[in-house]
Amino acid sequence: MRFKFATRILTLSTALLTACLVSPALADDLVAQGASPDGSLSVKLYTDTTGKISYEVDRKGAVVIAPSRLGFLLANAPALDGQFAVAGQTTSSADETWEQPWGERRYVRNHYNELRVDFVQKVYGDRHMTVVFRLFDDGVGFRYEFPDQAQLKDVKIVDEQTEFAVADPAKAWWNVAGEWDNLEYLYNETPLNEVSQANTPLTLKTDKGVYIALHEAALTDFASMWLRRVDGQRLKAHLAPGSLGPSVERQAPFTSPWRTMIIADNAPALYNSNIELNLNAPNKLGDVSWVKPYKYVGIWWEMHLEKSTWAQGPRHGATTENTKKYIDFAAKNAFRGVLVEGWNPGWDGQWFGSGKDFIYTQATPDFDLKALAAYGVARGVHLVGHHETGGNMARYESQMDDAFKLYAANGVDSVKTGYVTDAGTVQFAGPGDGIHYGFSDSQEGARHYTKVLETAAKYHIAVDSHEPIKDTGLRRTYPNWVSREGARGQEYNAWGTPINPPEHEANLVFTRMLSGPMDFTPGVLSLEGNKRDLLSTQAKQLALYVVLYSPIQMAADLPENYARYPQAFQFIKDVPTDWSESMMLSGEPGDFAVIARKDRVSQNWYLGGISDDQWRTASVPLSFLAAGKTYTAEVYRDGDHADDKGPARFDIVIEKKTVTQKDVLTLKMAPGGGFAIRLVPTG
Ligand code: NOJ
Ligand code: CA
Repeated sequence: MRFKFATRILTLSTALLTACLVSPALADDLVAQGASPDGSLSVKLYTDTTGKISYEVDRKGAVVIAPSRLGFLLANAPALDGQFAVAGQTTSSADETWEQPWGERRYVRNHYNELRVDFVQKVYGDRHMTVVFRLFDDGVGFRYEFPDQAQLKDVKIVDEQTEFAVADPAKAWWNVAGEWDNLEYLYNETPLNEVSQANTPLTLKTDKGVYIALHEAALTDFASMWLRRVDGQRLKAHLAPGSLGPSVERQAPFTSPWRTMIIADNAPALYNSNIELNLNAPNKLGDVSWVKPYKYVGIWWEMHLEKSTWAQGPRHGATTENTKKYIDFAAKNAFRGVLVEGWNPGWDGQWFGSGKDFIYTQATPDFDLKALAAYGVARGVHLVGHHETGGNMARYESQMDDAFKLYAANGVDSVKTGYVTDAGTVQFAGPGDGIHYGFSDSQEGARHYTKVLETAAKYHIAVDSHEPIKDTGLRRTYPNWVSREGARGQEYNAWGTPINPPEHEANLVFTRMLSGPMDFTPGVLSLEGNKRDLLSTQAKQLALYVVLYSPIQMAADLPENYARYPQAFQFIKDVPTDWSESMMLSGEPGDFAVIARKDRVSQNWYLGGISDDQWRTASVPLSFLAAGKTYTAEVYRDGDHADDKGPARFDIVIEKKTVTQKDVLTLKMAPGGGFAIRLVPTG
């Protein structure tokens, strides 16, 4: 083991801290403060004359988040908002390094100072609420603790009062929250003061050149946080509504998810931060060696192209014969997985937003699950299960255990789930025998996704959720949550209106991808959707395997299309999906990104670069390579005439170079273009 694991916890006495307090500001009293390990980031907590609490975040001596409100509105008791005084406070710190079972990097350092401030509302019979800040050198996380107390046992939260008042004028990369198309919206690039209600991660760049990403971590049994702009540059948490009552109903003691902000001098540092994972609880599942990173192909893109159907009939895609074809293709090219969609009854009628006919424990008559699973295993290939629910969580939950049992009995060790319905129309069980409708990112939705993970884990099955709740780093706690969709993926290139624009992935990297892996399904080398052309070069389709991280990656195109482009296909065969190191080397939101990753099992490095709709030149120092070694660089790049439109999309140069750590590669990326490079040590 290369790293020494060490944890250091230091607790200072309340008395000592209270003695350190600075004298009160004019209007508000400064009641607590803390700083990050290197002192560059600090937080100050204030109470005003009515006992309302606010916090401020400073970085390198400048205010980044101006005083911003903390608290909650309750349905069954007076608000946790005002009338507060400090009852006590402590600090502690930690510096530990932990290992991921799979991931973008093998070892993660968790280094922070913690400030814990207990507030009391004497007027409500000594009611307590604790706010805990963790200060990292590259950002801040804070959460609320609801202690076990008779004064507030049943907590019914109507909304959260947390604000983020961004101090300097900023630009925002964001998409809308709480709208019908779930998380699958294009990104806007606007001044922050034009944001309406945004999803997180929400990415900002101030006019002082400071980058900020606002998000949350460890969202379990709580409503998702949307960010609503109140006025100017002041954002306020708005919790996804519950459909039967308040947004959140819990029994104390419990904690809220962490509210997080990564703060950095450059955009790549947002991507390279580990705050999100560090603020999640360690692995709850024990030995997870059964969770395997892999590449897969599947009966999927052909349905999106309308060459075959999910429904039964003459063009049914999920037949025994067709699946064998994909298994043979996977075996030949060493892909572990074959996804089959439409294998079970329920697709023939109206499944979008209904899900009432899905049966998860039976195959259609033309699909022999048992025989195909065995056919695959004999060739080193595993079927990837599929459960589309049409958003009917109630029906899925009633069959889920048996459905996973069936898969486990057939050696299916991962499943893609789906919740195709409009946001707000997911179906939950109850009251009584009925159902009710609500948001998939409500507290009930959050509970559902956790229940799926826990049930799947019983059967050693990994989960890839489409139409998911947003990622908040729970893969640390549940390492069987291998991937999810949660943004516009490749499918929009088949049929979406509009098609994904060339800057889409350069937006994703600095927003959605800050939250965790995405099952984007890259690799459409034919560059053809359903009767339309992708706005991408072939080199960019390869680059996405490096740039858009996921431990499971699809080779999304049809086998016959890969046969047309064997040389480019070679990169898809070679690229791994599990890494020992990852770092973004350069990038700007919406413009471009260059990422380097080292294979988890070999000494090979991989580079991926993507552009937006502009020609761009990336200068890439190879200083990350091992000193004294020579590498063969297998380069897949845009040709000099490449473009995001027409036949020029296929202008790709595939070449080999000998390089060392001292070299700097200069790579031109076309509009909608990019590059992918495999670096193999030769001596
Ligand atoms: C939407 C998913 O994102 C897509 O991958 C899947 O094919 C369809 N739902 C059908 O389940
Ligand atoms: Ca989708």
